[in-house]
Amino acid sequence: MTEQQNLPASPVHLRSSEHGEAALVSFYEQVGGRPTFEKLVAEFYRGVAGDPVLKPMYPEDDLGPAAERLTQFLEQYWGGPGRYSERRGHPRLRMRHVAYKVNPDARDRWLSHMRDALDTLELSPLHEATLWDYLQRAAHSLVNTFEE
Ligand code: HEM
Repeated sequence: MTEQQNLPASPVHLRSSEHGEAALVSFYEQVGGRPTFEKLVAEFYRGVAGDPVLKPMYPEDDLGPAAERLTQFLEQYWGGPGRYSERRGHPRLRMRHVAYKVNPDARDRWLSHMRDALDTLELSPLHEATLWDYLQRAAHSLVNTFEE
């Protein structure tokens, strides 16, 4: 197996082949690492805290622990440290959301807070589009009811 095949299935890699050496930089690093994901999630939860549909869904009154879980999940997904799985095991996101009523309204609210949060990051258009595409697909995949 080549070194390349051993890498985790992180979505985007930048490859430069100066002097025949392959340099791989994860998407996580390209967008600025931990501070970028921390800011994204902090801004997102600021929106959730004021959302009359989403806020009551969160089991804890303090959104801090949920924010940390989402930050670690996103960091891991994009090629950063694997802290999420060290703490929580396999993500199994659909299973972890069955306890919550994720209907199209909840999904759209979730995405709208995420869109606002993403806009505060001022990423390059390609990075922004990559992240947004993923977040939209993930949110659509987690809808588990069409009940109002
Ligand atoms: C579609 C609308 C969504 C709603 C209404 C929703 C709601 C929730 C709620 C209420 C929790 C429990 C809070 C906690 O204990 O952490 C949670 C957990 C979580 N959500 Fe979502 N979520 C949505 C979409 C997403 C998406 C798109 C992602 C990933 C890109 C995501 C990732 C997570 C993660 C990683 C956790 C923590 C799971 C754990 O380790 O227990 N969620 N979500």
